[in-house]
Amino acid sequence: MQPLSRDQVCLTDGVITLHPVRLEHAEGFVAAINESLAELRPWMSFAQAPATLPGIRDWIEDQPALWERGLNYAFAVLEAGAADEEPVLLGGCGFNFVHPVHRLANLIYWVRTSRCGEGIATRLIPLLAGFGFRSLGLNRIEIVVAAGNHASLRVAEKAGALREGLMRNRILLGDTLQEAIMHSLIPGDLGLGRE
Ligand SMILES: CC(C)(COP(=O)(O)OP(=O)(O)OC[C@H]1O[C@@H](n2cnc3c(N)ncnc32)[C@H](O)[C@@H]1OP(=O)(O)O)[C@@H](O)C(=O)NCCC(=O)NCCS
Repeated sequence: MQPLSRDQVCLTDGVITLHPVRLEHAEGFVAAINESLAELRPWMSFAQAPATLPGIRDWIEDQPALWERGLNYAFAVLEAGAADEEPVLLGGCGFNFVHPVHRLANLIYWVRTSRCGEGIATRLIPLLAGFGFRSLGLNRIEIVVAAGNHASLRVAEKAGALREGLMRNRILLGDTLQEAIMHSLIPGDLGLGRE
């Protein structure tokens, strides 16, 4: 299945909007990452040092080619406000480790610290997963959570992902190896017509 072009993609539930990352999001990403470094650093490899505007701009500029090649789908999580308001950047999410043969992908997410606890991560998962199943033709979406990341384990559970088991030596952050819990979503979990 051919994915939609990035410009056509805008996923919303009326409270949050997921938009493929664009340069206009760069300053929002820098501010959101840097206010959240203490919470992101234990779990997210990209947050081992403060974000810089040039670094984030470079990352954003790489994304259209990765999208076109079906390798990575990176989204900004935005507050769904009135059309004339500058949307607040709430965090990031997306798919990586996209497998072209088996049509599975890893779903990642983070939420800026000042907006945690509002249900944003739980809300973004069905939006993004629905896009993955419908528009990318995925058969399986994986959510890999470090065994000690209790907030994220709770998010995966609340989003209805199936807890499948413990994976040893699954995550390497710096020099630290971590166990992780594999979760999955399949189309039927969202009420979509396939298995
Ligand atoms: C994990 C994270 C995405 C959660 O985002 P969020 O928008 O606050 O999540 P939600 O509000 O949808 O749900 C959070 C749930 O975790 C619970 N929670 C928060 N901290 C917790 C903790 N230390 N132990 C157990 N549960 C915890 C909350 O109470 C809530 O559950 P509830 O609704 O039953 O009360 C956010 O904290 C984050 O970005 N963390 C750093 C990056 C990260 O870990 N990303 C995921 C990698 S797999």
